[in-house]
Amino acid sequence: MLPEASARTERVQFAHDSEAEFARILDFYGISWLYEPRSFPLRWEDDRILEAFTPDFFLPDLNLYVEITTLRQKLATEKNRKVRLLRQLYPEINVKLLNKKDYLRLVAKYGYGPPDAKKLPDIDRVLFSAGQIQRRVHELGARISRDYRGKSPVAVGVLKGVFFFMADLLRHISLPVSVDFMAISSYEGDSAGAVKILKDLDLHIVKEHVLLVEDIVDTGMTLNRVVERLRSQRPASLKVCALLDKRARRLVDVHLDYVGFEVPDEFVVGYGLDYRQRYRNLPFIGTLKQELLS
Ligand code: IMP
Repeated sequence: MLPEASARTERVQFAHDSEAEFARILDFYGISWLYEPRSFPLRWEDDRILEAFTPDFFLPDLNLYVEITTLRQKLATEKNRKVRLLRQLYPEINVKLLNKKDYLRLVAKYGYGPPDAKKLPDIDRVLFSAGQIQRRVHELGARISRDYRGKSPVAVGVLKGVFFFMADLLRHISLPVSVDFMAISSYEGDSAGAVKILKDLDLHIVKEHVLLVEDIVDTGMTLNRVVERLRSQRPASLKVCALLDKRARRLVDVHLDYVGFEVPDEFVVGYGLDYRQRYRNLPFIGTLKQELLS
């Protein structure tokens, strides 16, 4: 049995700084890891192990062992030999030998965005990595496909924050589904105003099975207005799927049929969500540094 992932950097004694740095990068992007969890015998005589290899990391989410090389060529050659042998003896094991440049590229390749935390000075911490989001969205899509089996639902997204989620979710729904969007005004200190429909539905939803897709439900006031509006058009059914539920802040009790993640009472950005129109393009969901929120 492997020990539980993910150990945090401060609790582990790393042999090299480069390993500690790699662990910090993984932590930053919410990728779970185990440090040296398994040794693979490479040469043995009867019961005696003559040579073994213990890769530095195992990343359970990616099912990948990772060995970090230092910059010294002699060590790299030796590690290359061991990795080759490990691959021959244990073909079912995925293992990668990474130098520093390689692992920065690897992290970017898996969609975790710019790998260097220092390049994202506005982000306080990552709540959900791109990988975690994709896995959850996949699960939601599978559930929705099961629940709506035999039907052709209309998915309605509320712009703009929902555009990443909507695009990914629909790719995991294995049903004929129509798509439409609404855009509504948000409160901007104009107490005389009310929620305005900036873009209404193009499709008619009378007698249709409507799945309303939201990025985040905070007080619930926006969702409540949209639900009222959709109900007035007499759909056959109306369910709500929200990627994020900031339940602690709820004022209006709206029912959510599908929820991706619950989030704490903090302002979050990324994966479509903005702060003053910025940060929507981050591939993960994170919190902003407090001093930026004014
Ligand atoms: P509600 O009406 O208070 O539930 O607010 C919902 C809308 O506010 C969402 O659709 C978002 O556009 C925005 N919102 C609420 N919380 C956040 C957040 O933490 N980050 C980004 N946008 C948010």
